[in-house]
Amino acid sequence: YLEIPMALERTLSIIKPDAVGKNVIGEIYTRFEKAGLKIVAARMKHLSRAEAEGFYAVHRERPFFNALVEFMTSGPVMIQALEGDNAVLKHRDLMGATNPKDAAAGTIRADFADSIDANAVHGSDSLENAAIEIAYFFPSTDVHAR
Ligand code: TYD
Repeated sequence: YLEIPMALERTLSIIKPDAVGKNVIGEIYTRFEKAGLKIVAARMKHLSRAEAEGFYAVHRERPFFNALVEFMTSGPVMIQALEGDNAVLKHRDLMGATNPKDAAAGTIRADFADSIDANAVHGSDSLENAAIEIAYFFPSTDVHAR
């Protein structure tokens, strides 16, 4: 028979200021762990405007860009790199849709997000962006193979 190998991947996760403020870092970490995602790097940080603008540079021309930067700098965020089989898609599935009104029941955004702009979590949307986003916050020596 054919054995289809799973792809061991890493992805970047951010618990946004709204969810940090709700004191649900641990609940969200538990969901990652139960889904088989390992935390291989982590840091709490209050992003500067320049850091938030740089991180979301692809959205610079979007109408929500300034509000997004304001929100992401409104309080500390919890940033982590996650590792596991198909980590990018698995993490996106745990997060749920961008707008919590559209997020499936049981997803992080359905349970913890209030609106499309205060939506609790960020997750890389591709393997290519995951590598860029992990490197944006973590020197390679701070990412720990497990
Ligand atoms: P996007 O990359 O489209 O979504 P996701 O976070 O699910 O990958 O957008 C990035 C963030 O920008 C999103 O999490 C919240 C914010 N945003 C808004 O505030 N309003 C919007 O209409 C959209 C599309 C995004």
